Amino acid sequence: MRIIIAQDYQELSDRASRIIVGLITEKPDAVLGLATGSTPIGLYQKLIEKYREKVLSFEKIKTFNLDEYYGLSPEHPQSYHYFMRKQLFDHVDIKPESINIPRGVGAEPEVLCQEYNEKLKTANIDLQVLGIGNNGHIGFNEPGTSFNQETFVVELAAETREANKRFFSSIDEVPRHAITMGIKNIMEAKKILLLASGVSKAPAIKRLIYGPISEEFPASVLKNHPDVTVILDREAASMIK
Ligand code: GLP
Repeated sequence: MRIIIAQDYQELSDRASRIIVGLITEKPDAVLGLATGSTPIGLYQKLIEKYREKVLSFEKIKTFNLDEYYGLSPEHPQSYHYFMRKQLFDHVDIKPESINIPRGVGAEPEVLCQEYNEKLKTANIDLQVLGIGNNGHIGFNEPGTSFNQETFVVELAAETREANKRFFSSIDEVPRHAITMGIKNIMEAKKILLLASGVSKAPAIKRLIYGPISEEFPASVLKNHPDVTVILDREAASMIK
């Protein structure tokens, strides 16, 4: 894993955007794996700026998102479909048919997973953006998930629902299930870019860097991947030497 420590969130976002701009410049039809959560918002803002400055175009880009809450329609303001439109897609020239996100409604969850997993089989993701949960989750792969897992319905950990309740009016409204790319799907990306910002992520980053590779800490699987870049701000890096 290559570790970059940025001064602050702005620099973290800027460095991440430069990696993606470099990729798109080299390969205008690149396939991007995208993440939600607050961490990549700054990266998406930088990409929108670069698009407006005509440094890059998303016209030939395809995207695959990591996850979606089960039971939330694409119009629900807390759905990841909605998040991606507001944070990135509505502001760039990506073609709607090039956007792939697991469906959160419309069929039984197992059917939705199978449908998304089929798409991923031919996706050939060039670069996957990841955040990290406080418990080491990536996508919504919670501790204990097999490293061989493909797209599946996950029951969200109590701590994950707690961490995400800030976006809902009460804990009861936070969905109990999500559909997520599995760890196996994530590991198939050619490159991985993991971002972490803020002091609350420091213990998870310490465990990622110094801890063992274990299904009890899902992000640790990334040590088995040949091309991972981790970008941290100083706070997220505060527990590593
Ligand atoms: C969410 C998402 C993850 C994200 C993580 C951290 O639950 N499913 O993809 O990486 O939690 O979110 P944040 O960036 O807001 O800290």
